[in-house]
Amino acid sequence: MQTRHSTRKFKTDSVEKNKLEYIIEAGRMAPSGGNTQLTHFVVITNPGVLAKLITLVQEEYGKMEITENMLPYMVNIIKAAAAGTFVFNYNAPALVILTSPRTYGNNFADSACAMQNMMLAANELNLGSCWVNQLRWLHDNPVVMDFLATLGISQDEMVCASLVVGYANLPNGLPIRKVNEPKGYKVTFID
Ligand SMILES: Cc1cc2nc3c(=O)[nH]c(=O)nc-3n(C[C@H](O)[C@H](O)[C@H](O)COP(=O)(O)O)c2cc1C
Repeated sequence: MQTRHSTRKFKTDSVEKNKLEYIIEAGRMAPSGGNTQLTHFVVITNPGVLAKLITLVQEEYGKMEITENMLPYMVNIIKAAAAGTFVFNYNAPALVILTSPRTYGNNFADSACAMQNMMLAANELNLGSCWVNQLRWLHDNPVVMDFLATLGISQDEMVCASLVVGYANLPNGLPIRKVNEPKGYKVTFID
């Protein structure tokens, strides 16, 4: 937990299947509300499918209008998408999409528990990972949802989170491992 950090630069090397399976098993060990275990883990490593998804996500963000009160982060995404340079998955060779029934009240909470387990498992395997939210924000986008339907994600499911995974393209080939003291978060003990 101390050494887990997000990786946003990846080598093109694919991730071994047994390592991806280990990460997914870690996600499946996460707690879920009422032990319902409704999260659907969709693991995409097929380069053609990833390329298609990158293109669709780019096109859909590229169509969006920049509005006055929009967060600068979103403005940058839309501008990059319109310029054809937005790659939502940082070109990682593996993408894990977590979906859950749209009407299930704990869909995001359950997904977040699974995400943390998977990020810790990836770190343990010397793999880099990063939570990317750009697919989740398109969970009502018909073009993206129609494509996800071809991958077995039904319209009743909602994209709650997604994780990119791969080998870090950093000088030592490892994810960043520095230990940071938390600077935010309020903690209140009532003794
Ligand atoms: C709910 C959530 C959403 C996030 N969405 C994104 C994202 O869309 N793109 C991204 O690059 N990082 C995203 N992150 C990663 C955070 O930016 C990152 O965890 C945070 O800056 C702390 O850095 P660290 O992970 O390296 O410790 C997200 C993290 C969380 C928990």
